[in-house]
Amino acid sequence: MFKEAKKRKVILDCDPGHDDAVAIMLAAQAPNLELLGISTVAGNQTLAKTTCNALHVVQHLNLNVPVYEGCGRPLVREQAIIADDIHGETGLDGPKFAPLSRQKEQKHAVLWIIETLMAAQDPITVVTCGPMTNLALAMRLEPKIVDKIETFVFMGGSYQLGNVSPAAEFNILADAEAAHIVFSAGWSQLVMVGLDVTRQCLVLPEVLDRMDKIPTKAGRLFVDLMKFFNASQKATFGWAGGPLHDPLTVGWLMDPSLLELKHVHATVDIQHGESYGRTNCDVLNYLKQEANLYVATGVDVPRYWDLLERTLSSYPEEN
Ligand code: BDR
Ligand code: CA
Repeated sequence: MFKEAKKRKVILDCDPGHDDAVAIMLAAQAPNLELLGISTVAGNQTLAKTTCNALHVVQHLNLNVPVYEGCGRPLVREQAIIADDIHGETGLDGPKFAPLSRQKEQKHAVLWIIETLMAAQDPITVVTCGPMTNLALAMRLEPKIVDKIETFVFMGGSYQLGNVSPAAEFNILADAEAAHIVFSAGWSQLVMVGLDVTRQCLVLPEVLDRMDKIPTKAGRLFVDLMKFFNASQKATFGWAGGPLHDPLTVGWLMDPSLLELKHVHATVDIQHGESYGRTNCDVLNYLKQEANLYVATGVDVPRYWDLLERTLSSYPEEN
């Protein structure tokens, strides 16, 4: 008899958001992951809306996963920026959800993250798919959490071009100081899944058609989400399909062969100039400085769609 390998315990911090919702769908159903909880942060929409959206997703798919609400504004700057041009008025425009009966947990997400990590016997993996405010604040409150996190994988940044400025990607620009705290912490494994790879994963009409054939509620939700997302990506960037950013983090935890990684020295620009929020990744090792981050430089796109299709298909059938 084979002994089943232990599932990797995961905390998912996010700002749903269409692609965040899909990250939740993967994390909750991944055979090798145990999703301990979801923490929310202001990002794609206000904190109240991203929390509400996380609750809608767990309620809609009947997921037994608690949702903790975190920070509503960046650590230093006064004002949160939102991405309603891409994610709409609710932050999750498109699908119709039943009225909400699920409730968020009473505890603040940052306290839950600290308590969960400090009490853990096994190492924990943290995934962030939004601004890094909750994690940075948790690190400032309890620096020992760094040793409790085996792997920290995030969607954010770009070593090439940004998407909210020529230099910066949304999640990093939205709280660059928080990202700076995370980048400088000295993790055993910090993995950046940036626009360099996620922009290659476009949900083109043929991908949508394929997922449209999945007879599960999760498959339906994916298609309803992506129809709106693709339309707004087309209006903003002119693309025929939206880049499926956030779920690639979880996808990599499910199948590490999805990404090629390079160990590099990386910093976040927190000077208030035109490159504010840029992730400077020394991919060519000009600076000869110690590597602190694994940056994704390649992605197996067909394998990503296979994994997505398999996982959405493994949900209960729609009735
Ligand atoms: C990131 O920004 C958000 O709009 C998406 O949810 C994703 O996390 C892409 O830049
Ligand atoms: Ca996100």
